Amino acid sequence: MHILLLGGSGQLGTALQATFSNWANVVAPSSTTLNLENPQNVHNFITQTRPELIINAAAYTAVDKAETDIHAAFAINGESLETIGKAAVAINASVVHFSTDYIFDGTADTPYSETATPGPLNIYGHSKLLGEKKLLDSGATAWIFRVSWLYGASGRNFLLTMLRLFNERTKINVVDDQVGTPTSTEAMAHILSDILQHTRPQPHDAGIYHLTCKGQTTWFGFASACLKSAKTHDLICGGNVTLHPISSEAYPLAARRPKYSALSNEKFEAKFNVKMPEWSCALDNTVSLIAHRPTAE
Ligand SMILES: NC(=O)c1ccc[n+]([C@@H]2O[C@H](COP(=O)([O-])OP(=O)(O)OC[C@H]3O[C@@H](n4cnc5c(N)ncnc54)[C@H](OP(=O)(O)O)[C@@H]3O)[C@@H](O)[C@H]2O)c1
Repeated sequence: MHILLLGGSGQLGTALQATFSNWANVVAPSSTTLNLENPQNVHNFITQTRPELIINAAAYTAVDKAETDIHAAFAINGESLETIGKAAVAINASVVHFSTDYIFDGTADTPYSETATPGPLNIYGHSKLLGEKKLLDSGATAWIFRVSWLYGASGRNFLLTMLRLFNERTKINVVDDQVGTPTSTEAMAHILSDILQHTRPQPHDAGIYHLTCKGQTTWFGFASACLKSAKTHDLICGGNVTLHPISSEAYPLAARRPKYSALSNEKFEAKFNVKMPEWSCALDNTVSLIAHRPTAE
């Protein structure tokens, strides 16, 4: 299968490319070759290269910076999905796109289903919600996967930041009043690779799916599990580090975050006949991958 992967240099894109390249012809142009802020280029590239499947893992993901860089956030996360969708229709390609738990306002206390009403609290969430709508309205046959709290063995993410801090600090404060589900890019890539080897989005199953690991925790709970797993896999070199739970108010950021953003996987698991792993098991697998990867000479 000929796949066009946008955002191949990102943390999710890297995991997808590594897995999908085992069975598909994956073309992954850089953001300079294919800038989502340039609709004409995006349209031309897609219609000239004629992929069967377009996977869009590209996004403006700097949640706090987006509060002031509004135009770029909406262009990349919102408007570009109309261009991608219409180009896909023109060449009869299907689309896989990723959205976010941050489209919800966080007032729920049980996992959000796909039919729950969105209410973004920040520019990033608004821009991603616009992207969902633009893609659905374009008429493209697409699966939109809302994912949450992504981390992986590469890229910029919470796990890799914690692994660095565990060896630099003796005390780390971590927010303990936002609940969500850490989700491993490696686990996601394997599950999506298995699915897409056998089927592609079809008109009858196109739409939005929630795709995260199972269970829920806070950032403090996530950090505690990172520490436990890092100790198990001998990734702590120095002395003792301790974690301290703090409130969101004690760690002010430009963008508001939802207090609760766990997503229900029921629709995804039933449709694709898969079981998502518990977030803590997926975390341990990724930490093990990091611990066992060859080090540069
Ligand atoms: N990270 C999370 O916790 C999280 C949570 C929920 C949902 N998501 C969603 O999951 C998806 C993957 O996120 P991620 O964490 O893997 O993102 P990431 O690591 O920040 O990577 C973003 C990718 O987008 C590319 N990109 C940025 N601006 C671009 C532009 N103007 N034109 C073309 N490409 C551009 C980047 O290219 P360069 O490297 O060249 O800049 C990079 O490859 C996104 O849709 C994101 O919204 C992420």
